[in-house]
Amino acid sequence: MSVAVEFRNVTKAFGPVRVLHGVSFSLQPGKVVGLLGENGAGKSTLMKILAGYESPTTGEVVVDGAVRAPGGGSRAAEAQGIVLIHQEFNLADDLTIAQNVFLGHEIKRGPFLDDKAMREKTRAALAQVGLQIDPDTRVRNLIVAEKQLVEIARALARNARLLIMDEPTATLTPGETERLFALMAELKAAGVTIIYISHKLDEVERTTDEVVVMRDGLLVAREPTASVTRRQMANLMVGRELADLFPPKLPAPAGQPIINVRGLTVPGWAEDVSFEVRRGEILGFAGLVGAGRTELFEGLLGLRPRSAGTVELSGKPVQLKSPRDAARHGLTYLSEDRKGKGLHVHFGLRPNLTLMALERYAKPWLNPAAEQAALRDAVQEFGIRTGSLDVRASSLSGGNQQKLALAKVLHPGPSVVVLDEPTRGVDVGAKREIYHLVQRLAEQGLAVIVISSELMELIGLCHRVAVMRAGRLQTTLQEPNLTEEELIVHATGTR
Ligand SMILES: Nc1ncnc2c1ncn2[C@@H]1O[C@H](COP(=O)(O)OP(=O)(O)OP(=O)(O)O)[C@@H](O)[C@H]1O
Ligand SMILES: [Mg+2]
Repeated sequence: MSVAVEFRNVTKAFGPVRVLHGVSFSLQPGKVVGLLGENGAGKSTLMKILAGYESPTTGEVVVDGAVRAPGGGSRAAEAQGIVLIHQEFNLADDLTIAQNVFLGHEIKRGPFLDDKAMREKTRAALAQVGLQIDPDTRVRNLIVAEKQLVEIARALARNARLLIMDEPTATLTPGETERLFALMAELKAAGVTIIYISHKLDEVERTTDEVVVMRDGLLVAREPTASVTRRQMANLMVGRELADLFPPKLPAPAGQPIINVRGLTVPGWAEDVSFEVRRGEILGFAGLVGAGRTELFEGLLGLRPRSAGTVELSGKPVQLKSPRDAARHGLTYLSEDRKGKGLHVHFGLRPNLTLMALERYAKPWLNPAAEQAALRDAVQEFGIRTGSLDVRASSLSGGNQQKLALAKVLHPGPSVVVLDEPTRGVDVGAKREIYHLVQRLAEQGLAVIVISSELMELIGLCHRVAVMRAGRLQTTLQEPNLTEEELIVHATGTR
């Protein structure tokens, strides 16, 4: 059952950009191994090589004692039982769940596809991850958490001996995460080796037997999980002692609200929601997945129909029709669905940055030199790690895509900014930078709204936190009631 895998001096370059500088190590079969490292350290790249999606530039991958032949792709790796659950989902939006699960591995009866068998097997795999949904549903109609669960189900249907999970819980609820951990324990008991990549160090601490740390394309440490603390893990990743995660809170500002929302109703998702945010204020939104937070703001921005409610920006009533329209009124939104709604991943970095503020570069013709200069500044300011400025957004590592998305929504110079899961997939060092950035934005007089599933993030950062449950705003908490316990009580409705 168990698989033996060894990397021998693996390097990887994309054109002139060297990403892996010679990684050697062998995996212990039947163990859960945590793979840690900052955004851009090379974790996903190394795992894509292991799973056959990329080939090494030099060096070898040895599986069960045999050097893997080049060119086999992910199919050859899957035939060896090595399956990758992608960080940036790798699903075809136009196909159904069942079609995605069996893409390239279709079950046939004679010359025909056996849809019934594939549907049933898909249903079973979905049940394993706790997703009760019709296998014929098209992937485009799923929310991000469901897409993540489908990715996992797809891997399970492949009968993996080595399962690589690249940030599987970034979009999951605590309940779904627990179920995944139980599943991992079952798989481990059955002899499956698991490589677990996550920036959530508490999860790494809980689920893994040992941790392997990468920094700048090299392997820098390997320790039994029990012998290192979370703080030590973080320090190993960044290569220095990390200071406090959160900046000291500024006093809550007084003064008129910049944004004032009354009675906003987004049919099916949010009902009669009212709130306001002042200049310099950071307002959090807490709630379980499905509580309607994202949908509320999508309604506010004109991405979903609204049936009631008024919105005032700086005292003037506005009817926002689209995110672009909202940007013109001084409100921008960082989507939680970075790949779907946030970035145009097949475009370069430059259009991604400037798309919502193109007016600024059109006088009347676009000025690419000015755009390029803006990109250079943003890469510097937001610490976006990229080998070159002239790459597609899709070639950035997950966390660096998130930084680019953040730079994009701040580029138009908004007075109100809504950040939906701003630190999803970013490493501890970058998280700290984002928290300090949010604080600076507030200091500069912006109204900042942070939607987050990380309670500590809301508590550490926000002046007030609004809690939503089942589409309704339950309460707004502030010191001294802004505690993890109170947030959970109101988000779940149970004491
Ligand atoms: N197709 C590509 N073309 C050019 N550069 C690439 C490509 N794929 C990855 N890179 C670069 O390789 C480096 C490592 O990326 P990788 O995705 O492996 O990082 P990671 O450790 O998984 O980071 P994260 O924690 O953000 O997911 C990054 O600098 C990235 O920009
Ligand atoms: Mg990655």
